[in-house]
Amino acid sequence: MPNSLIKQVLAVSLIWATSVSVSIANADTSFKDTLAVQGLKLEASALNYQADASKGEALANQRCIACHGDAMLGMMKTYPNIKGQKAAYLFKQLVDFKRGDRSDPLMQAQAGMLSETEMKDVAYYYSTQTASDLSK
Ligand code: HEC
Repeated sequence: MPNSLIKQVLAVSLIWATSVSVSIANADTSFKDTLAVQGLKLEASALNYQADASKGEALANQRCIACHGDAMLGMMKTYPNIKGQKAAYLFKQLVDFKRGDRSDPLMQAQAGMLSETEMKDVAYYYSTQTASDLSK
């Protein structure tokens, strides 16, 4: 095989492998098992709900971006950068805020307005984002 053809084949398989691993990373597979392990008692409807990243994005742009967007993160040292965090972790924090197992006046008010299926959507959406580089 000529060298250029080998390079082409390698490049194509690399692209293929990358797209496969990206789609696996983005697949909403993490919630169910993780929740069982964490012992959150959820309704079956929330437990079996398949998170929807586009619904989560709409919600994030409407309600969360004011505080968790780059502009505010740059100013407020205690506001967490939640992009790229694990979906199940973010989801658990939201449930904890809503149930009062984690306290923060701002976030308890926010989580209080969300259903558990909306929490899954928004947690999943943030998990698919790349964490902002706040060092600039
Ligand atoms: C008014 C500002 C504000 C808004 C709006 C807001 N947050 Fe927060 N959020 C905070 C602050 C401040 C914290 C840190 C709380 C603490 O110190 O415990 C936080 C923490 C969190 C955490 C925990 C992060 C971690 O690393 O443990 C999650 C998850 C979260 N927010 C998700 C959301 C989502 C989803 C929305 C939109 C529905 C939202 N927040 C809207 C201010 C806000």
